[in-house]
Amino acid sequence: MKYKDLTIEQLKQKLDYNKIPKHIAIIMDGNGRWANKRLLPRNFGHKEGMERVVEIVEVSSTLGVKYLSLYAFSTENWKRPIDEIQGLMKILVQYIRRELERLYKNNIRIQALGDIERLPDFAKEEVIRAIKTTSENTGMTLNIGLNYGGRGEIVTGIKKLYNDISAGNINIDDIDEKVFSNYLYTKNQPDPDLLIRPSGELRLSNFMLYQIAYTEFWFSDTLWPDFNERELILSIIDFQNRNRRYGGV
Ligand code: FPP
Repeated sequence: MKYKDLTIEQLKQKLDYNKIPKHIAIIMDGNGRWANKRLLPRNFGHKEGMERVVEIVEVSSTLGVKYLSLYAFSTENWKRPIDEIQGLMKILVQYIRRELERLYKNNIRIQALGDIERLPDFAKEEVIRAIKTTSENTGMTLNIGLNYGGRGEIVTGIKKLYNDISAGNINIDDIDEKVFSNYLYTKNQPDPDLLIRPSGELRLSNFMLYQIAYTEFWFSDTLWPDFNERELILSIIDFQNRNRRYGGV
């Protein structure tokens, strides 16, 4: 990588602040491997992963990103051992308790992507408190994927749309891609410009399937607990050097 010898400040000078991606989505992966490498239980990796959430939220908001979507817990993650699930929920609660005041002061609005009804009550209540507390904020929107799956989101959207059609609220001829997108958890939000997946895996894992039709992908081998400001800036510089054609020439 030709930027590897540059300092953060030098890297920042390479950024075009007029072309910061409006919406960045991140599949936070590699916490377990990070912990394994250190002979620590997996939840230590998730805990360190939370510290990167704090860092990346702060950096993104300062750079002028308008929407940041973080995949924290998928509909498939319920298959993990119960103590890991409990640990993840506790880390989520700890994050909100520790960070909510700062998020609020930084004008960040928190939203959940996913069906939070299935979360344990102690976690669901904190998530709802975070959403309510920050609902009037007008800075960056932080979407946290919780019990989220892209296919499930589309199916849920179809059911909501069906209800609206049945109730006569919408005519079938008026449904188009844009209208349908407002039946998704990302209602009224622009699609991600950039999707980042660390940890060396090259797959989408059911994240934002409808929304990423024209999203630019950025993969890196770094494990999420090591994914820092520098990596985020590198991904944005790379994004800014791409030519997005949206199927045109
Ligand atoms: C995937 O890594 C990561 C997760 C399933 C959890 C992500 C959660 C956090 C970063 C915790 C904090 C989140 C918030 C929003 C406060 P993995 O465990 O599958 O890693 P592996 O593939 O190396 O095993």
